Amino acid sequence: MVRVGQFWLIGRAIVVLQLFPAILGWGKEGHYATCKIAEGLLSEDALAAVKGYLPDSAEGDLAAVCSWPDEIRHDFHWRWTGPLHYIDTADFRCNYDYCRDCHDSYGHNDSCVTGAINNYTMQLSSARHAAIGYNLTEALLFLSHFIGDVHQPLHVGFTGDAGGNSVVVHWYHRKTNLHHVWDNMIIESALKMFYSSDLSNMIQSIQKNISDRWSNDISSWANCSSNDTVCPDPYASESISLACKFAYRNATHGTTLGGFAFILEPRVHAWSKEGHIMMCNIAQNLLEHDAQHVIQNLLPDYVDGDLSALCTWPDQIRHWYKYRRTSSLHFIDTPDNACSFDYQRDCHDPHGKKDICVAGAIKNFTTQLLHYKEGSSDRRYNLTEALLFLSHFMGDIHQPMHVGFTSDEGGNTIELHWYRHKSNLHHVWDREIILTAAKELYGQDYDLLLEDIEGNFTDGLWSDDIPSWKECSDLFSCPTKWAVGSINIACKWGYKGVEDGATLGDDYFNSRMPIVMKRLAQGGVRLAMILNNVFSHSHEELAAAT
Ligand SMILES: *[C@@H]1O[C@H](CO)[C@@H](O)[C@H](O)[C@H]1NC(C)=O
Ligand SMILES: *[C@@H]1O[C@H](CO)[C@@H](O)[C@H](O)[C@H]1NC(C)=O
Ligand SMILES: *[C@@H]1O[C@H](CO)[C@@H](O)[C@H](O)[C@H]1NC(C)=O
Ligand SMILES: *[C@@H]1O[C@H](CO)[C@@H](O)[C@H](O)[C@H]1NC(C)=O
Ligand SMILES: *[C@@H]1O[C@H](CO)[C@@H](O)[C@H](O)[C@H]1NC(C)=O
Ligand SMILES: *[C@@H]1O[C@H](CO)[C@@H](O)[C@H](O)[C@H]1NC(C)=O
Ligand SMILES: *[C@@H]1O[C@H](CO)[C@@H](O)[C@H](O)[C@H]1NC(C)=O
Ligand SMILES: *[C@@H]1O[C@H](CO)[C@@H](O)[C@H](O)[C@H]1NC(C)=O
Ligand SMILES: *[C@@H]1O[C@H](CO)[C@@H](O)[C@H](O)[C@H]1NC(C)=O
Ligand SMILES: *[C@@H]1O[C@H](CO)[C@@H](O)[C@H](O)[C@H]1NC(C)=O
Repeated sequence: MVRVGQFWLIGRAIVVLQLFPAILGWGKEGHYATCKIAEGLLSEDALAAVKGYLPDSAEGDLAAVCSWPDEIRHDFHWRWTGPLHYIDTADFRCNYDYCRDCHDSYGHNDSCVTGAINNYTMQLSSARHAAIGYNLTEALLFLSHFIGDVHQPLHVGFTGDAGGNSVVVHWYHRKTNLHHVWDNMIIESALKMFYSSDLSNMIQSIQKNISDRWSNDISSWANCSSNDTVCPDPYASESISLACKFAYRNATHGTTLGGFAFILEPRVHAWSKEGHIMMCNIAQNLLEHDAQHVIQNLLPDYVDGDLSALCTWPDQIRHWYKYRRTSSLHFIDTPDNACSFDYQRDCHDPHGKKDICVAGAIKNFTTQLLHYKEGSSDRRYNLTEALLFLSHFMGDIHQPMHVGFTSDEGGNTIELHWYRHKSNLHHVWDREIILTAAKELYGQDYDLLLEDIEGNFTDGLWSDDIPSWKECSDLFSCPTKWAVGSINIACKWGYKGVEDGATLGDDYFNSRMPIVMKRLAQGGVRLAMILNNVFSHSHEELAAAT
């Protein structure tokens, strides 16, 4: 089952988030140059048609809007276009095969950059015959952008490293990843060193080489086998072959830092972070010395002991091949309208495999972390990963709609409007309520929101409830209790009064916002409780599940 909604949380890691726009695709400069060069080679007819389709904002210049598909790909409405920017090929094969490789991580055929190029070319050519209901402005911008992407060697890279995104390297003195080096850094450095930072100088130099140095090659570059209007497959084959020959060859995984480059991973559905980050911040501020010390040891150096910086990692890697089995660990499907959770009945994957659900995962990773105290001899588990999974899943289990009904996938299939924009019920609880609260009540200041939540459990609204929140006699029953809390809220507040096609606004927001805030607080307090127990030298209150 595809569970697209992830869950909440911001704070210190906002700095990390801001890196995203810079790494979305073959950089802005690359796309600009490709489109500028193409514009210079258009026939009169083609130029007129292109100008007709361009949005007003382009002012007649295709190159000006060639990065549009990168700008929108993380918007909720456009997230399906993410896989259209690249192709994941078989690791180390160094070749490309449309049938084998052109699909997204869910196995939808044609969902890759070459499939998209065929698709949008078809749409544009059909315009000659009739207006068939395609948006040709979008088709033109997608086609122009994806032709750029398919020529970036690492957009046709290996699956295992997400086209070099997880290969950490240094580019001169800056830490980055291999994909980004090919998207941006090489072009940026070339611009600085050879073209006095003027992109139009570089484009002119390329154009000059097209007309002299490479002039004999152009006919083969523009050659399309048979009669096809477009033939992107050979371009993809060239790219992966260049990637193997030049990109991967000098930069192998682990040559520098290895490991956690995936916080920069741009291909994932990178939303719903705020809740997780805030919850981990709450927990971290409640850690005792022993736990703080262990966590500092387990986290990679570059986050400097800040757990919240990596609390969304499990969402970022869940579609990677290696971690594909973790996808079912983010939620629980309970029987429709039962409004109850029964561990034996509900905690399994779609094939019936036991313990595969968020409550099972919390038990699993807590048990693994308990081995830390046994000393360094036990290396069966990667405790860094266990810490990140546990911290993340404590967020998920407190998001009421992560313990929802089976047939609507925890509200994911209930489409609705959140104020004026399209959303779904799951996403409302993952993110919309938090974003609206931050914007309307805290002037977008997440630190202020965090302080308010913390103030409400230290000496405000919830201060008397903390002992009951922390109550936990053994590892088996606690996650079950928390999941029961979530499905109860899902029924009483989540689903209640919401039908497919509904528009939710002030009434829903005002009545549900306090619940979301309380769940964040509870999740944070309980995560701290577990970590303090698991890593403390002095007390051992938590019994391990066997
Ligand atoms: C996807 O493509 C593969 C290879 O061409 C084919 O075997 C498979 O049946 C296709 N799947 C669907 C759902 O069309
Ligand atoms: C083709 O384009 C349409 C319209 O943008 C889109 O709905 C569809 O998913 C696209 N298919 C592929 C394979 O790109
Ligand atoms: C076509 O798509 C663009 C970009 O998404 C949008 O601004 C425009 O309104 C659409 N045009 C039509 C006719 O739907
Ligand atoms: C154009 O060709 C010259 C001569 O080979 C080369 O030095 C220059 O780097 C090329 N320019 C670009 C932008 O590739
Ligand atoms: C164009 O492609 C066809 C088929 O791939 C090939 O036979 C032909 O030699 C190519 N022509 C040029 C000029 O490269
Ligand atoms: C190219 O198109 C022509 C006319 O439509 C057709 O007769 C011919 O068989 C096509 N050639 C190939 C290789 O598809
Ligand atoms: C890249 O690798 C090749 C072969 O392994 C080597 O000859 C070359 O010097 C390397 N280049 C750099 C910049 O390290
Ligand atoms: C644990 O997992 C992380 C992230 O996958 C990885 O970077 C690290 O090298 C692993 N540690 C060990 C000891 O295998
Ligand atoms: C428990 O963790 C291991 C990895 O450490 C994983 O392979 C397994 O699927 C997990 N099981 C559950 C129920 O989370
Ligand atoms: C904190 O408590 C106050 C007073 O009850 C309430 O108005 C406010 O919304 C609460 N803040 C959060 C973030 O829950």
